[in-house]
Amino acid sequence: MLNNFKIPKKTSFGLRSLEIFPNTILSPMDGVTDAPFRRLCRVLSGDRMGLLVSEFVPTDGDAVFNLDGHKQLKFFPEERPFGVQIFGRFPDRMAAAAKKIAESLLPDFIEVNAGCPAPKVAGKGSGSGLLRDLPRLQEILHEVKSTLDASCPEIPLTLKCRIGWDSESINIMETLAIAEGEGVEMLTVHGRTRLQGYNGLADWDWIGKAAAAARIPVIGNGDVNSVEVARERIDNYGVSGVSIGRGAMHNPWIFGQIADAWEGKPAHEITAAEALDVFPLYYRFKIEDGSTEMGALGRLKQLGARLCKGFCLGEQGPRACRGAEAGGAQSVSKCCRGAEARHDECAEEEQGPRACRGAEANGAGDESQDVAMHIRQTLLTAQNADEFFGRLEDLRNGFAKDLRYDPSRLVNLNGAKETELKFGDQFAGR
Ligand SMILES: Cc1cc2nc3c(=O)[nH]c(=O)nc-3n(C[C@H](O)[C@H](O)[C@H](O)COP(=O)(O)O)c2cc1C
Repeated sequence: MLNNFKIPKKTSFGLRSLEIFPNTILSPMDGVTDAPFRRLCRVLSGDRMGLLVSEFVPTDGDAVFNLDGHKQLKFFPEERPFGVQIFGRFPDRMAAAAKKIAESLLPDFIEVNAGCPAPKVAGKGSGSGLLRDLPRLQEILHEVKSTLDASCPEIPLTLKCRIGWDSESINIMETLAIAEGEGVEMLTVHGRTRLQGYNGLADWDWIGKAAAAARIPVIGNGDVNSVEVARERIDNYGVSGVSIGRGAMHNPWIFGQIADAWEGKPAHEITAAEALDVFPLYYRFKIEDGSTEMGALGRLKQLGARLCKGFCLGEQGPRACRGAEAGGAQSVSKCCRGAEARHDECAEEEQGPRACRGAEANGAGDESQDVAMHIRQTLLTAQNADEFFGRLEDLRNGFAKDLRYDPSRLVNLNGAKETELKFGDQFAGR
């Protein structure tokens, strides 16, 4: 049993009549947090997620908002409490979309996005573009709120925003005042400016200032990637909860880990077999959601690219390798020889198993990194789902049998190298 962590001062918050425990939100991420990914996180958390939110839904394009045109609106009953997030720059269109969504789907809340930094969104005045035009943001909140109050008064309005457009124009305190004045009932603050994109660190001092001044729950967002960080942010910045994005892309167990800690339970040790089990589960959710085989395979690889970083050698590391040798898979034995080389048992080093050379080059060497890379490569080079799951089975019965799984190896935020690479400084000047 692993030790768990101190329980923070707050472990839940209220949204109208709902008590949200644990006080976590899976941050909406377009192209990632679709229904299958959300269901996966929910199952892995033992059904203790806090809140789930849809990927953002555009409203500007439709003269008449059409529910059928937006696959992001699909959610499963077990995802509740569940919110739909909308974005746009026209108050009437935002309000009409909110009304239709509220009446037809009865989500547990409707959220306005004032955070998206992408040029095609923010550049047109939607998403974080609204932070340069607070009167417009106010008008949108006013229209959406009064429409909801008239049609579905039981559905609360929430807002997700950044701290400002750039470091010269931080206006989170004004945004908070507007939100409260217009009847917003929860504010999630991503502690970066629009200009930062996803680079650098989130500024939690501003999040903390907003939380201290707020009468509504303020949820802090940015760089939360472990139980310890979640607890520290809640305790030190006074937020009602935390919203976790990229941390969950790397570690979909994070919500369950937090719930365990908040419930005072010992931390659950994830086995390598459990980690591998995530793939068939996710695949099933993708297929149930109507995905094609290749579409689902792409998402398995997206997840695998991150998740495989957690596989590592246990105390019995070299034994794991010998076990794999016995299992006989060729590529596995290559990697094992790499691991064994560091135990002076590799006779074929000069024949150059790639893993061995990699390990040699590492000097002190991180054997576990080789192990993780091997599993990652094995899965990510599969050409179709049958091949993927065949390889997965081989790993399960051979190489991975004696491995450990350590989620703390998963996340390298701020880093945040992965998203920095993806987004770079593309927003500068736009
Ligand atoms: C790929 C990607 C897609 C995102 N899509 C959305 C979105 O649809 N709506 C939203 O409010 N935020 C979106 N975000 C922002 C995240 O919700 C979150 O605010 C941000 O990643 C910071 O949190 P983190 O450090 O925990 O990742 C997205 C972020 C990423 C990386």
